[in-house]
Amino acid sequence: GKVCLAYSGGLDTSCILVWLIEQGYEVVAFIGDVGQEEDFEAAREKALKIGACKVFVEDLKEEFVKEQIFPAIQANAIYESVYLLGTSLARPIIARKQIAIAAQEGCQFVSHGCTGKGNDQVRFELAYYALKPDIQVIAPWRLPEFYDRFAGRKDLLAYAAEKGIPVAQTTAKPWSTDENLFHISYEAGILEDPNDMWKLTVDPEEAPNTPERITISFEKGIPVKVVNHNDNTEVTEPVALFTYLNTLARRNGIGRIDIVESRFIGVKSRGCYETPGGTILRTAHKDLEGLTLDGHLRAQRDQNITVPYSRCLYNGLYYSPECEFLAQSIPFTQRNVTGDVKVKLYKGNTIIEGRVAHGDGAKLYDMIESSMDEHGSIVQSDATGFIKTHSIRLKKFTPASQ
Ligand code: ARG
Ligand code: SIN
Repeated sequence: GKVCLAYSGGLDTSCILVWLIEQGYEVVAFIGDVGQEEDFEAAREKALKIGACKVFVEDLKEEFVKEQIFPAIQANAIYESVYLLGTSLARPIIARKQIAIAAQEGCQFVSHGCTGKGNDQVRFELAYYALKPDIQVIAPWRLPEFYDRFAGRKDLLAYAAEKGIPVAQTTAKPWSTDENLFHISYEAGILEDPNDMWKLTVDPEEAPNTPERITISFEKGIPVKVVNHNDNTEVTEPVALFTYLNTLARRNGIGRIDIVESRFIGVKSRGCYETPGGTILRTAHKDLEGLTLDGHLRAQRDQNITVPYSRCLYNGLYYSPECEFLAQSIPFTQRNVTGDVKVKLYKGNTIIEGRVAHGDGAKLYDMIESSMDEHGSIVQSDATGFIKTHSIRLKKFTPASQ
């Protein structure tokens, strides 16, 4: 049979590639470029050298930004109140291209290097099955004939030596990482001295003493322009804009977290993440919603879109009817989220300094209405009835603390 393998160039998927050939498969290697720092040409050469019959290196950055990152920003997607879902967001894009290549190359099988303990296996495979119901999946780390042979890194290195698989000279760090344009994750190892671990951002304490001031413009909740007031840089194209925000966030030490999260499979996992540009965008977007989004719509969205949409992404249910339903309702909530947000970037912080709305979103906030100095169109005596009516049921209730 023929198998399309999601290949990274690293030790695990290189051993899997060779192992699949040993099992009698023909292997098509697929490398998805979602913005990770990688020598893609070297990875291509390596895959061919160790026996792949064909290699595809696919630039998925633009679809990643437009189809996953921007909707996640629009929805304020977040898992367990802290994780911005960087890995979860990239998986559907990678899986979709892998399935397209498998179909094009006549592969009956697809394969990946995810373990049987994590979320990624679920995300990849549910996406595969949704996109191509007759696809057959080979998940080596869940096969006894694989895991009985490879208990861990030591066995993989021995196998690599035996099979002539080149191993990168850099002394491997004892944790697992996943990198893309949106974030990098570090997990599943000793993260007790995270100081030589962080890769994308400077330590906030070492960030410049001079703040950087920028304005981010949104159109219907999508960032369309960033202007840096320190040097007049202006960026508009989606990938360039997001990459530029990453640059700003990285040098100002923005976007690090250190958490324990609940994996879908039921395991708790310690992880560190850097989500530089995404952290700035989230803060700015939420601020603009304060000005432009109706309060009741916002409350409804927070509960009934943000939470379940984030859960769908995390749990690998992006290609599901419920997730499509949620995704389609995001643009409705964002119709009036248009305007500019002024942001100060300073030593790990994203500090909002002001905002202005354009279009219908500008109608909601009326300085006079909330003013202490003027009556405006509000008839203050009307509020007496508002409070009285709300008090009807409270007068029949006995509070626990008196
Ligand atoms: N825990 C995060 C998530 O589930 C990150 C997973 C990183 N994946 C990896 N293969 N290292 O989204
Ligand atoms: C893995 O187990 O392959 C990485 C971690 C995860 O998927 O959650």
